[in-house]
Amino acid sequence: MKRHLISAADLTRDDALLILDTAEELAHIAERPIKKLPTLRGRTVVNLFFEDSTRTRISFEAAAKRLSADVINFSVKGSSVSKGESLKDTALTLQAMGADAVVIRHGASGAPYTLANSGWLHGSVVNAGDGTHEHPTQALLDAFTMRRRLSGPDARGGLDGRRITIVGDVLHSRVARSNVLLLATLGADVTLVAPPTLLPIGVETWPCSVSYDIDATLAKADAVMMLRVQRERMNAAFFPTEREYSRRYGLDAKRMAALPDHAIVMHPGPMNRGMEIAAEVADSARSTIVEQVTNGVSVRMAVLYLLLGGSEPAVTTATTTEETTA
Ligand code: NCD
Repeated sequence: MKRHLISAADLTRDDALLILDTAEELAHIAERPIKKLPTLRGRTVVNLFFEDSTRTRISFEAAAKRLSADVINFSVKGSSVSKGESLKDTALTLQAMGADAVVIRHGASGAPYTLANSGWLHGSVVNAGDGTHEHPTQALLDAFTMRRRLSGPDARGGLDGRRITIVGDVLHSRVARSNVLLLATLGADVTLVAPPTLLPIGVETWPCSVSYDIDATLAKADAVMMLRVQRERMNAAFFPTEREYSRRYGLDAKRMAALPDHAIVMHPGPMNRGMEIAAEVADSARSTIVEQVTNGVSVRMAVLYLLLGGSEPAVTTATTTEETTA
């Protein structure tokens, strides 16, 4: 595996499977009364969030803490970034504090890449969402959820031949891009569904199919992933009205009934209930939305462990490690 995780395209099939299998092992820790391993004791993980986040930030925090790392949460509000401090000076400060890994979310596409390739930091950089570009750990937790739900908890291997439909605001979605790249690596068949105005230029070069018609794809889908309509990134009118969008591209109970019995419904959150997804769909037994959040912690533990932990086994039966060398 590479030292940083910036794009889902950084992962070979073997890398991706190693992360998913490690996450599967680590998921069992969450079932123990004490949900903690000594694996990253003494390592420092900094969560550097320049954009709002609920689940991703707390998920990385929980993941690092469950592996006993020291966690520093840095948010722009209240920091010197609001005084105009540059990414470079922020990074040099983190380096001076001895950060072993920096988890970064930034409004600018490419910020994590800049950080990783700048030489300002010696540690690993993990992209937790950059602009409209990528969100690789979200794609990993989505793949983990699909594999578990579609093939069972002991599943190994990829998602070969699985049909995944991703619907909505692809243009502004870093989740969609990372999912398409990772799912292609894992052998799945992906169809993007969106109004033409919400598809990015160059989407025809992505490893997936594209459709404007949600109803044409549902009957064959193993999973349907709804994307949030990202109003905060919209500077123009991309569709006539919210009602019209919801009618043509929203997932309601009637559309959900067209899915095969085994098919699951996903959403990365936060949801616009009643817009891209009806409340009764979000809360239905097919929905994996809450499970995706739980799985996110295991997947991020696996990523941090594999980037920082080196060759030691992730889960050991021993309760002490230091005493043996004293
Ligand atoms: C996504 C994000 O921030 O990119 N959310 C998340 O990480 N769970 C998707 C979104 O904001 O719609």
